[in-house]
Amino acid sequence: MTIAEMFSPEQFRHSGHELIDLLAEHLATNLEGKDKVLDWQDPKEAEKSWQQALPLQPSLTPASFMDALRDDILPSGLAVHHPRNLGHQVAMPLPMAALCDLVAALTNQAMAVYEAGPAATLIERQVVQWLAELIGWRGAEGILTSGGAQANLTTLLAARQIKAERDVWKEGITSGPPLKILASEHAHYSLARAAGIMGLGTEAVIKVATDAAGRMDVSALIAAHQKAVINGDNIIAVVATAGCTPTGSIDPLDEIGTYCNAQNLWLHVDGAHGASMLLSRQYRDKLRGIELADSVVWDGHKLLYMPAPVSAVLFKNPQHCFAAFAQEASYLFQGESAQDETYNTSYRTLECTKRMMGLKLWAAFSLYGVDGLGALVDKVFATARLLADKLQTTPDFELLMMPETNIVCFRHQSGDSSAIRKKLVVSGAFHLTQVNLHGEIWLRTTIMNPFTSNSDLDFLLEQIKIAA
Ligand SMILES: Cc1ncc(COP(=O)(O)O)c(C=O)c1O
Repeated sequence: MTIAEMFSPEQFRHSGHELIDLLAEHLATNLEGKDKVLDWQDPKEAEKSWQQALPLQPSLTPASFMDALRDDILPSGLAVHHPRNLGHQVAMPLPMAALCDLVAALTNQAMAVYEAGPAATLIERQVVQWLAELIGWRGAEGILTSGGAQANLTTLLAARQIKAERDVWKEGITSGPPLKILASEHAHYSLARAAGIMGLGTEAVIKVATDAAGRMDVSALIAAHQKAVINGDNIIAVVATAGCTPTGSIDPLDEIGTYCNAQNLWLHVDGAHGASMLLSRQYRDKLRGIELADSVVWDGHKLLYMPAPVSAVLFKNPQHCFAAFAQEASYLFQGESAQDETYNTSYRTLECTKRMMGLKLWAAFSLYGVDGLGALVDKVFATARLLADKLQTTPDFELLMMPETNIVCFRHQSGDSSAIRKKLVVSGAFHLTQVNLHGEIWLRTTIMNPFTSNSDLDFLLEQIKIAA
């Protein structure tokens, strides 16, 4: 194949049309829930199909590539648009948002500096302002990153630089008292990982106990803070989780925020999962107090129905946006200081080259509005509630707690939850997860699909009974 053929617009047009037809078919089949959610294969066995020799010469034509996609690759994936896909918090992407990712891929706007992606930069800034406005912030700043884990790291780096009261970025962590973070025992592991990356050690995250509903216990938070002060620790951030990963519980943001503001503590709200409740007229009140935070993380590829990855890091004080990476790179940045570099995203993010992630969010807000996107949240929350009601009234099932979001944890009294889950996943009837809470294993479903129906839920309980 010639170099000109490799970049042929005609070939792109032809294969592109074929690809969209193929994906539209795939989407339709999945939405109808016709096939298995997952065609489970043991990874060691499955890997044998992916041990081909390195192709020094072409081994596929565009047509046979399309065949491989249709016959081998798409059928071996997890069907995220399937109504019985109840496992992870991963969005079933809005198809129009997926098209935006194709635009991002072909145009490859590197975005490290404004001139490498002018429209991409300005669209991202627009979207960040919209998300901040939903929190109730004016004049805030932020950045889009590749995922919530990196977003949490970014906020903690900023909190450290502001709250350590010394230039940790330059001097390192050894030049002062120990730096600690207070977070609920259910906080996402990415926070401990961030503490590890930052050189604080994973044990720098002091775990605060939760109440029976899985929410941070505020009196335990206050006690932990007071103990840290007596120990001479420097608390760089309190992390509240809005929609914690195991149970979906929401920490009491209002109370935590009031305490943190009074004590001059940095409050970070990890809303990777639950910040999208701000889109819903019905549920936004559950996040009352989120506006008291200094920083918020909000994943687009969860309840905003975006293709992964896209996460927003939002800072109430716009200057804090530049605190995470207080670094110079003169070959990229020509300004005097970070603040002059508002339009050069590299100053504010771990990534140098980064994907044009704002387009898909901008398109979704523009095409469906806050109300349209909020309707998705309302629908899946209602389905989660319906499942919880069924679990409460069906003999032999035990519901862990009334769901606060779209995550429902439960178990069947006669069985081993792990074995039940495995049977369901291997059968391809459902995808669901499990969670270990205080040494006990519970089944965990995350309702992400607005088309998951009453009969899908009945079928789930039936299949669990059979498996048990
Ligand atoms: C509360 C919470 N924070 C952070 C993350 C990490 O986000 P990501 O998977 O986008 O890196 C998750 C992911 O499940 C989460 O549930």
